[in-house]
Amino acid sequence: MTCDITWYGHAALGLKTGGYTILIDPFITDNPVANVNANELNPDFILVSHGHGDHLGDTIPIAKRTGALVISNHEISVWLSNQGVTTHGQHIGGGHEHPFGYLKLTQALHGSGLPDGSYGGNPAGFLMTTKEGLKIYFAGDTGLFSDMKLIGEEGIDMAILPIGDNFTMGPDDALRAVKFLNPKHVLPIHYNTFELISQDANSWSDRVIKETGAKVHVLKPGESITI
Ligand code: NI
Ligand code: MN
Repeated sequence: MTCDITWYGHAALGLKTGGYTILIDPFITDNPVANVNANELNPDFILVSHGHGDHLGDTIPIAKRTGALVISNHEISVWLSNQGVTTHGQHIGGGHEHPFGYLKLTQALHGSGLPDGSYGGNPAGFLMTTKEGLKIYFAGDTGLFSDMKLIGEEGIDMAILPIGDNFTMGPDDALRAVKFLNPKHVLPIHYNTFELISQDANSWSDRVIKETGAKVHVLKPGESITI
């Protein structure tokens, strides 16, 4: 049982599982560190964690070109649907069985305003259980919250966590998040996109390895790992 995970920089990720391709927060065209063209991405599904432009990114053009189903909170799903995108709305705490697996929305401590000023509901993270049984937690943009312990109780194979600070958890709180979640693998994201969120992921990785049992994957934009 495997899942291929590609990091495009920032919070943009591509997952391949069970024959499906899933894009998360596809901020590609305006992403200064992405080295792929949005036109080359052909997802079956797109997950949007919240309404901010650095997460919504190229969702609309990619979804319109490919017909990908966009999964997000209800408010963003209505906003996207009004622009001709095929959507599936869920909400925090709610899970749904999709062709690639069971997807639950989790809380995130952040904002979610949409680029045109529309209300984007509450921001979310994603807890995915693939058809093959892998549990992947994408925290979204969030501060640390102690209920990550409850998410950890589900048995996390991979935790994808922001470490950039300023807008989300920084390295210290992200280390505490790893302790709450107790995942087998960790992938740090949402750093080094802009000067304001520069971090040394390798030194963070050293701390995580020393203080937890998790395996940390520090990727360069465009790199992939298989778990
Ligand atoms: Ni944000
Ligand atoms: Mn962000």
